[in-house]
Amino acid sequence: MGKTLLGITASPRKLGNCELFIKDIFKRLGDGWELRMARLPELDIKPCKACYQCLFDQMKCPQADDFLPVLGALADADAYVVAAPVYLLSANSSLKMFMDRGLQFYAFVDRLWGKPGVAVAVAGIDGMEGSGKRDVESFVKLTLGDLRGAAVVYGALPGESLLPAANAEIAQKLAHALLDPEMRLKAEGPVCPICGGDTFRFLPDGRVRCMLCSGSGAWQVENQALAFHIEPGEHPFFLSKAEVNRHAEWLRGMKERFLERRQELKAVVKPYLGMGTFIETQKEKP
Ligand SMILES: Cc1cc2nc3c(=O)[nH]c(=O)nc-3n(C[C@H](O)[C@H](O)[C@H](O)COP(=O)(O)O)c2cc1C
Repeated sequence: MGKTLLGITASPRKLGNCELFIKDIFKRLGDGWELRMARLPELDIKPCKACYQCLFDQMKCPQADDFLPVLGALADADAYVVAAPVYLLSANSSLKMFMDRGLQFYAFVDRLWGKPGVAVAVAGIDGMEGSGKRDVESFVKLTLGDLRGAAVVYGALPGESLLPAANAEIAQKLAHALLDPEMRLKAEGPVCPICGGDTFRFLPDGRVRCMLCSGSGAWQVENQALAFHIEPGEHPFFLSKAEVNRHAEWLRGMKERFLERRQELKAVVKPYLGMGTFIETQKEKP
């Protein structure tokens, strides 16, 4: 039976760089693969209401929209590619809209964990990718996939990202990484020794935190290069299936912790009740 690659594009542009790059990777997988696509900006993905219903009982989100069909397609797929255009220094917001519904991923751990995934951020201007690469990497990590590789590619006009030979090489490497875990694409330069991420926050105490797995530790210059000595944090995203389930349990425990501290929190909140006026745009419209 054939295998399915799910391509998730966070670009509103039809046949734009994200869609084309996904298709270019698909083309390189060889026979026996079919391509399913999801274009996030054109889907009805509502915001998370922070009701936490997805973590309890039926583990069902009350929002009725296109989120579950996409998550179902992801759970069914054999592998996936996510590609997002960089808008104002981060991935297009449709990616985050999807991610914000992600407490539902915990209901799908067995079907999502370890699925091969690769991630692409497309930026129009060389060097202006902002957090785009980390954003798409997070998508694969938080959808519980095996992040086999990630890249930033540059191209502003639709199709431009396919022109440089270097980008064709990236597409080829990402396709190979999907097919073979031994071929995973490693970031060039210093990386987090735990998760391979290359986006860091330097902390005031001389430590450093990986923005992909949340591990933190010391940094040093070794042989004229930066080296990181990072330990997993209390909630590392996500190093094992057991860790995923442990985090889900910790989240479920929030309900109990909230009930225990409800009176204390109520007292803290009270003075702020009714402060300020919220903009209600619908009512203001003539
Ligand atoms: C609203 C908007 C904001 C953008 N912001 C950035 C940016 O911050 N950095 C950058 O390099 N490119 C930026 N771009 C360019 C896109 O990332 C680029 O055109 C990319 O190829 C779009 O991918 P697509 O063809 O798949 O839509 C922006 C484009 C738009 C429409």
